[in-house]
This record gives sequence, structure tokens and C-alpha cells, in this order.
Amino acid sequence: MRYRDKHVIVTGGLGFIGSNLSLRLMEEGARVTIIDSAIPGCGGNRFNLTPAGGRINVLVRDVGQAEELPTLLATANVIFNLAGEISHIHSMRDPLRDLKLNTTAQLHLLEACVRNVPGVRVVYAGTRQIYGVPRYLPMDENHPIDPVDFNGVHKAAADLYHGLFARNGSLDACVIRLTNVYGPRMAVNISGQGFLGNFFRRMLIGEPLDVFGDGTQLRDPVHVDDVVDAFLAAGCAPKLHHRIFNLGGPEPLSLMDIARIAGNEAGIGFGFKPFPADLKPIEIGSYYSSSTRLFEEFGWTAKIGFRQGVQQTLSYFRQHLNNYLEPRDWPRAQTALASASTTSNEPG
Ligand SMILES: NC(=O)c1ccc[n+]([C@@H]2O[C@H](COP(=O)([O-])OP(=O)(O)OC[C@H]3O[C@@H](n4cnc5c(N)ncnc54)[C@H](O)[C@@H]3O)[C@@H](O)[C@H]2O)c1
Repeated sequence: MRYRDKHVIVTGGLGFIGSNLSLRLMEEGARVTIIDSAIPGCGGNRFNLTPAGGRINVLVRDVGQAEELPTLLATANVIFNLAGEISHIHSMRDPLRDLKLNTTAQLHLLEACVRNVPGVRVVYAGTRQIYGVPRYLPMDENHPIDPVDFNGVHKAAADLYHGLFARNGSLDACVIRLTNVYGPRMAVNISGQGFLGNFFRRMLIGEPLDVFGDGTQLRDPVHVDDVVDAFLAAGCAPKLHHRIFNLGGPEPLSLMDIARIAGNEAGIGFGFKPFPADLKPIEIGSYYSSSTRLFEEFGWTAKIGFRQGVQQTLSYFRQHLNNYLEPRDWPRAQTALASASTTSNEPG
């Protein structure tokens, strides 16, 4: 109960990772306030907070307007800053929207924090995308920052703002740069949020998975519960020895293996397709993180293997299909669910 009676703000808390984090904080006894603007095209979903039964306070507001919340900010013991637009594709189509959400709004938020709650611990959700095409693997925190898309550039700026405010002593900020995250509450209904969301939607509606390219590219998907563990550790550590942490999954897997494991769990196959024209220029090839620094600082390692994580995630979504899929997908999802339960009831 590290967070008992603490007032914790979670920006982006209606979304995938933020809602999982908020629920865990509530279980740990924190008083949680979410600031989330529920932006169309991002993963905010009120249903994510159902287990809280109204015990989490939600302010629907852009973090760029956080200056208007001085009293709220002033009482914060910790701020988990997860507000952001995660789509690389959306950022290429509308870079100014991405700049506003991921950079301008972040600077407003951080300046409001400096004014109203100087020195507060802020844990920011950064991204591996800021590194661009890996020059070596596993990727550690010393890798050059050289993003290949607007989302990477804008997230890099926000990441560096956190570093700047930490360096000048205004905020006790750190950044956890995440690899591909999956798990319950991810926005499987929104296209352009990465291949894992797309895979889970297809698993739920019983459609074969599309692997772009030859499938040999490596990724290290990480389950959201592991991510939440790292955020909780960073939020309450008495002193930080580092300010930047890469966070990756338990093991690198090829996209082909990811599709094979996921497809097996859902009873569907996969096939290869050429990269779509809009994805090709922003594809980074193989990637996997070194999480050594997170281990050294907090004893953190990813614990949930991919197969186990897929099973747990599928089970969550199958219980709540209509809260995560678009109505047009419901009939196919019901058919896929019926077929999955028939298969699992078969003897032997
Ligand atoms: N999911 C991943 O694989 C992944 C990987 C790397 C980094 N991240 C980072 O983690 C954070 C959370 O990602 P997620 O997957 O939960 O995304 P998500 O889309 O599910 O949730 C993000 C939430 O932030 C809110 N939001 C966006 N901009 C906002 C703003 N300016 N003010 C207030 N609310 C705003 C959205 O409404 C949404 O509810 C993001 O910052 C993202 O860049 C995620």
C-alpha cells in the first residue's frame, strides 16, 4: 500500500495504460484524479474505469488547460503523465494536431506543475519511437534520438521537457520510454494505433492476421500489468538515480512468431502482405529494449510472457466485446466467440 492516502493525478487516465494504472493506484489506497480530454481518435473509454465504481475522480479537460486547475495540482503527491496521442500514422496525416496534443499541451501542463506544485514527482510515458531506426540492439537509453515520424519528434520534445525541468530542479521528473504495450483496455477499435491493437481486433472477430513484410522484424511486446508495475515503482521511489528508463517486454519475438502465438490462441491463421505505402517510410525494422536500468533502479523486470498475456487479454475482451468493438464487428465477434468456446469444450 505504497500509495495509501496519497493524492495522485493520472493524465490520460481514460485511455489504455492510464486506466490500468489508475485502477491499481485505487487498489493501493490512493485518491486518484484523472485529467483526460477524451479526444476522438485516442483510446479514452469510460468503460475502462468500471471497476472503480465512481471512486476515481475524472476531469474531462486537455492537459494544456491544466493552468486552470491550481488547487487540484497543488495537492498532488505524484503525477503520472500518460496523456498523449500514440498513433504514428495519425501524426503523419495531421502533424499539427499531434504537436498540439503531445508537445504544446505537455509544456502547458509542466509549467502549471512548476508553478503550483514545484518539485513534484512526475512520471512521463515516453516512447521507443523517439530513437528511430535502431543502430544497435538491445536499445539502451544512450541510443541517439532520431525519430522517423512526427509523433516521435513531438514525443521527443515532451520527453526532453521533463528532463529539462528535472535538471533545473523545478520538477522531480522521470521518463519511462515504452515499447509496444498490449493488454486489457487497449483501444482495439481504433486503427493506426499499432499492429497489436489491430491483431487483437482481428482475433476477436476471427479474421486472419496480416503480417507486413517478411515477418522477421523483432519486437518485444510488454503486458500492461508489467508497465503499471514499473510506473508504480518510479512514482514512489524515495530518490531517483536516473531520469530516463527504457522499458521492454520479456523477450524479443519476430512479428511472425507474435502472429503465430496470437493466432494459435484465437484459433486463426496469419498471412504476409507488403507494407502499405503510408507505413513503409516510418517502419523502423527490428527493435527490442534493454530494461537493465529499470532492473538496477527498481528491481523491475517484465514477468508476463507473451502467450500468457495474450490469453489473459483475450479473456478480458471476450467478456466485454461490445464495450470495445464497433457495432459492425459485433456479429462476427459473437460467431468467433461461439466457435472458440466450442473448440475449447472439445475433449482431448
Ligand atoms: N500503448 C503503447 O504501446 C505505447 C507505447 C509507447 C508510448 N506510449 C505512451 O503511453 C501513453 C498512454 O498510451 P495509451 O496506449 O494508453 O494511449 P490511449 O490513446 O489509450 O490513451 C491516451 C489518453 O490520453 C488522452 N489525451 C491525449 N492527449 C491529451 C491531452 N492533450 N490532454 C488530455 N488528455 C489527452 C486521450 O484522450 C486518451 O484517453 C501515451 O503518452 C503514449 O504515447 C504508449
